[in-house]
Amino acid sequence: MSAPNKSYDPVEVEALKPEEIARMRDEALAAIAAAGDLQELHEVKVAQTGGTSPLALANREIGALPPQAKAEAGKRVGQARGQVSQALKARQEELEAERDARVLVEEAVDVTLPHDRVRAGARHPLTTLSERIEDVFVAMGYEVAEGPEVESEWLNFDALNIAPDHPARTMQDTFFVENAAAGEDQSGVVLRTHTSPVQIRTMLDREPPLYVICPGRVYRTDELDATHTPVFNQVELLAIDEGLTMADLRGTLDHMVKALFGDDIKTRLRPNYFPFTEPSAELDMVCYVCRGASVGDPQRPCRTCSSEGWIELGGCGMVNPRVLTACGVDPEKYSGFAFGFGIERMLMFRHNVEDMRDMVEGDVRFTRPFGMEI
Ligand code: DAH
Repeated sequence: MSAPNKSYDPVEVEALKPEEIARMRDEALAAIAAAGDLQELHEVKVAQTGGTSPLALANREIGALPPQAKAEAGKRVGQARGQVSQALKARQEELEAERDARVLVEEAVDVTLPHDRVRAGARHPLTTLSERIEDVFVAMGYEVAEGPEVESEWLNFDALNIAPDHPARTMQDTFFVENAAAGEDQSGVVLRTHTSPVQIRTMLDREPPLYVICPGRVYRTDELDATHTPVFNQVELLAIDEGLTMADLRGTLDHMVKALFGDDIKTRLRPNYFPFTEPSAELDMVCYVCRGASVGDPQRPCRTCSSEGWIELGGCGMVNPRVLTACGVDPEKYSGFAFGFGIERMLMFRHNVEDMRDMVEGDVRFTRPFGMEI
């Protein structure tokens, strides 16, 4: 009744015997269990489920079986392959979980570690104060002018009405770069001792009206100590126009002091002498710390003004007509005022800096507490 047995090669069918299938499955399961990482598991997967794996090859043999044996062998091989792929999936999940746990530990970021081992620098308070002063004047319509630090002796002294025998010109104060050639009418070269030569350069360069502010480094042959430095910074102010008077100078400086130290700070002018201004004065402001209250009161000494009540700011005056003439400006038509002062000194009393050396050493621990000025 049944269909005749088809002849088949018994050697080939050997692979489909239950023990054989079980052995292949067990071998695959052992290899899966032994895979130590995802890469190894991938290799096991290719070897145990790929087209040339023992179970895949066995599966191909099913076709050679007689029909009634096919179903049983198919079920056996199918079950074995199913177990293998399930084991693969389970091991894959296990190894992925292990990897994720390891990565979490290995790549953990310690958020408590300091993030700023390499500290950022900071702008020097001399720069920020100088810019603040410039801003006050730029807001009044002034322009910022600059000049060279290596300057001709004529511009640094002669044009400013500082005669050749003036004490400021001796070797004591001035760094000479080149001496004037003897017997020749030629100017020597110096490191500028003040920013006033920028006044001269501005007047020689341009026609009035002129309103300029000139910040810059200047040099004097001083030893570096708590109150002196051979290199320091000044700000120079120059206004040349028709009809300018000492009242304009007074009002301008008053505004500057109020802008820098507060609206209720009074100023005063004391007579003084500078060769390049006539008349000349010294600008003082009421001590912005004690407001004069420390004067004559030993109970309340003031370090900022040494209990004098006033702080000296700098020199000023009406530009000497001789200076105007030397620069080709007609003193009959134009008049002008000028003002010059040191930024280091202002920084010292404005911020209670006691030692000038702190300003030149460039240590950011000094600079950082001043913070930003915008
Ligand atoms: N150039 C002077 C100095 O360095 C400061 C000075 C005084 C500047 C009076 C001026 C001025 O413009 O009018 O000592």
